[in-house]
Amino acid sequence: MTPHVEPDPQAGAAVKAADRAHVFHSWSAQGLIDPLAVAGAEGSYFWDYDGNRYLDFTSGLVYTNIGYQHPKVVAAIQEQAGKLATFAPAFAVDVRSEAARLIAERTPGDLDKIFFTNGGAEAVENAVRMARLHTGRHKVLSAFRSYHGATSTAINLTGDPRRWASDTGSAGVVRFWAPFLYRSPFYATTEAEESARALQHLEDTIAFEGPATIAAIILETVPGTAGIMTPPPGYLAGVRAICDKYGIVMVLDEVMAGFGRTGKWFAAEHFDVVPDLMTFAKGVNSGYVPLGGVAISAEIAATFDKRPYPGGLTYSGHPLACAAAVATIQVMEDEKVVEHAAHLGENVIGPALRELAERHPSVGEVRGLGVFWALDLVRNKETREPLVPYNAAGEANAPMAAFGAAAKKNGLWPFINMNRTHVVPACNASEAEVKEGLAALDAALSVADEHTA
Ligand SMILES: Cc1ncc(COP(=O)(O)O)c(C=O)c1O
Repeated sequence: MTPHVEPDPQAGAAVKAADRAHVFHSWSAQGLIDPLAVAGAEGSYFWDYDGNRYLDFTSGLVYTNIGYQHPKVVAAIQEQAGKLATFAPAFAVDVRSEAARLIAERTPGDLDKIFFTNGGAEAVENAVRMARLHTGRHKVLSAFRSYHGATSTAINLTGDPRRWASDTGSAGVVRFWAPFLYRSPFYATTEAEESARALQHLEDTIAFEGPATIAAIILETVPGTAGIMTPPPGYLAGVRAICDKYGIVMVLDEVMAGFGRTGKWFAAEHFDVVPDLMTFAKGVNSGYVPLGGVAISAEIAATFDKRPYPGGLTYSGHPLACAAAVATIQVMEDEKVVEHAAHLGENVIGPALRELAERHPSVGEVRGLGVFWALDLVRNKETREPLVPYNAAGEANAPMAAFGAAAKKNGLWPFINMNRTHVVPACNASEAEVKEGLAALDAALSVADEHTA
C-alpha cells in the first residue's frame, strides 16, 4: 500500500508549526517534543508529509483493533451523522440500544447492563463509584505494574510512575503485587508458585487492611502498558474466590485487553472468570469516536434499580460513538477478526518472537497472546537486568531511544515503554504485514544488542 497523497513537506511544516504553537500534548515536556505530522492512515499503515510510510505496531495507543479508516465503520459514522448526530443520554436512542445489546451479548456471564463513557479512565472512575456504593465500603486494591487512566481516581489506582505527580495518597487506594514470574516479587521459580504466592500476598493484604473496608479489587485481566504479563493459571480464579469470600467487588479492566486484542472478545474468557464489573474502551469501536464503558453484573445493576446512580456524562452513549461500535462489532464478526488475532498470536507472532529471543542477546523474555506481546529487553539474559533502568529518562534511556530510532528508520512504528517493546499491531493486520514488521523489529533489535553486557 502506498500513501494516498503526494508528499507535501510545506503542508507538513504548517501542521507542525500550528501544533507547536497551540497544541498542549499529553505526558510531555512541551518544549522537548517533536511530534510527527501525520498526513494520513489506512489499515495498518500511516504516513507523513515527507513521503515516509510506517507500519503501525502500536495500533495508535493499542486501540485501532481493526486498523485505520475501515470503510464500513467510516460509512456508519457518516450515515449516523446525517441521521442523528447527537442526542442526550436520558433518552432511548436506537443506535445506543443496539451498541449496548451487542456489547452485552459478548461480555462474559451476566454482565448485561452497559454504562457508556467517553473513554477508559471514566469507565474506571464509574466502576469504582459503583463498587463503593454497592458495598458501602471505600478502599480499592490495585496492582503495581498497572495503568488505569489519568483522571483522579484512575491515576491514583495506577501502579506506574505516571501516578507519582498526581498521587493524593488519600484516594482510598491500596496497592499490591500481582504475579509476574519473570521479575517475580515473590522469589517464585514456577508459574504455580507465583500464582499461589501472589494469592497469599493478596489475601494477607486484605486481612491487614480489614476486609470490611475494601470495596473492590481492580486488575487488568492481562496488564497492558505495564508489560503484558499474562496471569499464571489459577490466579484470576483465585482472585474471584477471594472477592467472593470477603464480599469484595471484582473489577476487570479490559480497556486495552478487550475486543479481540488477546484473540478472544474479552481476555477474561481465557481464564474462565466472570468479574462483577468490567471496563472497556479502545477496541470497542477502534477509537474512531471516543467511547468506553462499564459492563455491570445483574447484582450490582440491581443496587441501582430503585436508588438513583449518582454519576453521568453529557456524552454517555453518544450516537456517533455508538454507531462506530455497532459497525466495528459487525466488521469483527463478518471478517472473523477475533479468530484472526488468535491465529496471528499462535502461528505467526508467538513463534517468530520466540525465534528472535533465541538470536538476540537483548531479548530477555517474550510473552503475550493474540496480538498482545511484549519483549522484555535486558542488558544481560542471566541477570535479567533491564536494558534501561525503571523509569529512565535522557541519557539513561539512550539504548531504548536508539532501538526506537532504528525501528522507525526501517519503516516500523514501535510501541516502547521503559525497557520493553510491545508488538501490538491491528487485530486484522495481514500475515504479510506482521512479517514485514517483525523483520524490521529483528533489525532494530540488533541495535539493542549493542547495549548488552
Ligand atoms: C487498562 C487501561 N485502563 C484504562 C485506560 C485509560 O483509558 P483512556 O486513556 O481512554 O482514559 C487505559 C489506557 O491506556 C488502559 O490501558
